Amino acid sequence: MSRIVYVNGDFVPEEEASVSVFDRGFLFADAVYEVTSVLDGKLIDFDGHCARLDRSLSELGMSMPMDRDAFLEAHRELVARNDIGDGLIYLQVTRGAADRDFHYPADATQTVVMFTQAKPGLAENPQAQTGIKVISIPDLRWDRCDIKTTQLLYASMGKMKARAEGADDAWMVDDGKVTEGTSNNAYIVKDGTIVTRQLGNEILPGITRTAVLRFAREAQMKVEERAFTLEEARTADEAFVTSASSFVMPVVEIDGARVGAGAPGPIAKRLRDIYIEEMRRAAS
Ligand code: PDD
Repeated sequence: MSRIVYVNGDFVPEEEASVSVFDRGFLFADAVYEVTSVLDGKLIDFDGHCARLDRSLSELGMSMPMDRDAFLEAHRELVARNDIGDGLIYLQVTRGAADRDFHYPADATQTVVMFTQAKPGLAENPQAQTGIKVISIPDLRWDRCDIKTTQLLYASMGKMKARAEGADDAWMVDDGKVTEGTSNNAYIVKDGTIVTRQLGNEILPGITRTAVLRFAREAQMKVEERAFTLEEARTADEAFVTSASSFVMPVVEIDGARVGAGAPGPIAKRLRDIYIEEMRRAAS
């Protein structure tokens, strides 16, 4: 059965969905996106993702093509039409189609696309039991990584390199310090303190990151928001990543060297449990 996707106000079978070859999302990656997870048919942290979409768009001189309630309704409609229990919803907004020109067009109409990916058992991902292996790569992205644009080629290259080396993902390193994972925020734990890079242009302000840090502080865990070196990461007691698709995922190996005992650590496990439980409760 093919998916029903949303394109500019219409819900259509994926085979019938289309956008212009002149769409600036295609020609310039002039587009932003969001990924919201779905558990038991409900949206996880929808408002956080909607707020970040608004910010990404405004940083690029665009406005929201529809308001929060209309986005929420469209997300719910997609969940229902595709019978999604657990999964992901991708929301892509481009500046629209216009004759090719580097300058922003004055009068293009934004393109809005949403689609689902079914992921049965998303919260019971077996990788959470074993942890994942990461390699380090230089962070060669641009300097506005705080905007969630669709320029994801370097992330793809990093994941391909990781796969070729028998790892699951890559952590990016700038000036000796870890910025983030290719599609997640990066953390280490040392002597009970959780360390993750402070917000800035170098990383995406993860929606999962915000929630996880709040839960950690509420649970009286110590949190330091600062850059950490690759060396610190290799000698940490634990490491983990967070994202809308992986929630809290333990990292057990960095560049072939074990982190801590080489198994998911207690703080990552606890944060994962708290995050999933609390977010299920608050889901919309
Ligand atoms: N990735 N950093 C980067 C570079 C990301 O692409 C993501 C999200 C995150 C975590 O953000 P959040 O917690 O809001 O998901 C951090 C999504 C899941 C993706 O592209 O698949």
